[in-house]
Amino acid sequence: MPGERVLPDFPWDTLAPFAATARNHPNGIVDLSVGAPVDPTPALIREALAAASDAPGYPQTYGTPALREAVAAWFARRRGVTDVDPDGVLPTIGSKELVAWLPTLLGLGAGDLVVHPEIAYPSYDVGARLAGATPLPADGTAQVGPASRAVKLIWLNSPSNPTGRVLGWEHLAKVVTWARSIGAVVASDECYAELGWDGQDAASILDPRVTGGSHEGLLAVYSLSKQSNLAGYRAAFVAGDPVLVRRLLEVRKHAGMMVPWPVQEALRVALGNDAHVVAQKARYRARRELAWAALEHAGFSIDHSQAGLYLWATRGEPCWDTMAWLADRGVLVAPGTFYGAAAARHVRVALTATDERIEALGERLLKD
Ligand SMILES: Cc1ncc(COP(=O)(O)O)c(C=O)c1O
Repeated sequence: MPGERVLPDFPWDTLAPFAATARNHPNGIVDLSVGAPVDPTPALIREALAAASDAPGYPQTYGTPALREAVAAWFARRRGVTDVDPDGVLPTIGSKELVAWLPTLLGLGAGDLVVHPEIAYPSYDVGARLAGATPLPADGTAQVGPASRAVKLIWLNSPSNPTGRVLGWEHLAKVVTWARSIGAVVASDECYAELGWDGQDAASILDPRVTGGSHEGLLAVYSLSKQSNLAGYRAAFVAGDPVLVRRLLEVRKHAGMMVPWPVQEALRVALGNDAHVVAQKARYRARRELAWAALEHAGFSIDHSQAGLYLWATRGEPCWDTMAWLADRGVLVAPGTFYGAAAARHVRVALTATDERIEALGERLLKD
């Protein structure tokens, strides 16, 4: 197995001592280390899953036409993108698998570069390595320099996990122009796009202001795990250039990478309903305001964090010192080093905890 040689160690085990300390708190641990939703899956989505549970045959790898049309309609209604071609839509088994396998599905290999943000969700790096390609953390063309000839794939992630930073459409447009000039694909991981906090949701890579009217070479990657409390369903999709999507489809058909039909139905119904996203967002907004105030009171600064489910926080010290300080108060977060060397003085505070646990955070940090 080639991956055994090239993959980084799975870092979460290193949190065990901090988790043990935090669990000793008399009122229990406040675990804000992972971004896994905790609120119930909305009833209408569960009903859609149940109604599709009679599924004796194989599902379509491509997704049903109704699902692909629902994705195109969602882009038009929620993202300001009216020209998504349903032929350029493909459901994925959650988005992490697509992130981890996209370089392989695109046929990348030795000598190819996969650019991803410097401070990033680790699966972009993993995906490059799985393909035998080389990951290159870079946020600008200057960092890539003459190596740009070898760049075959550029990952963007806006809003960002972990920083919550949102890239403006002008920035996205510049990346698209550059990528097209060097013949690279741009894949934009946008799963927090409906979770913007300052009234302005993040632009898609497929936004007409970004694309110049053509989706050629562009893929938007999206997931309902977060906004619809659906992480356990593995419900996501990729959309954009129909030619690229066909290439992915061909390999995925051979490899059996298909989304179960009941999940396709749940995804279709979820995409057609905005009310549950609005309700979930209100829950997160309240948690975010409380957590933000508590962290600031305790001397943290919060950077970026304009969107998404994390506060990107620092006490101006190495992140492991902050981890220890919080663990002593019964709180577990994720250290910035998980997301890149440039993030060694930040911690990522997830808002995916119950109201009760976020209130416990507030009590612990506001009382000093
Ligand atoms: C930026 C980003 N991309 C992809 C994923 C994967 O989401 P899923 O596999 O649940 O669709 C996550 C999950 O945390 C994420 O933060």
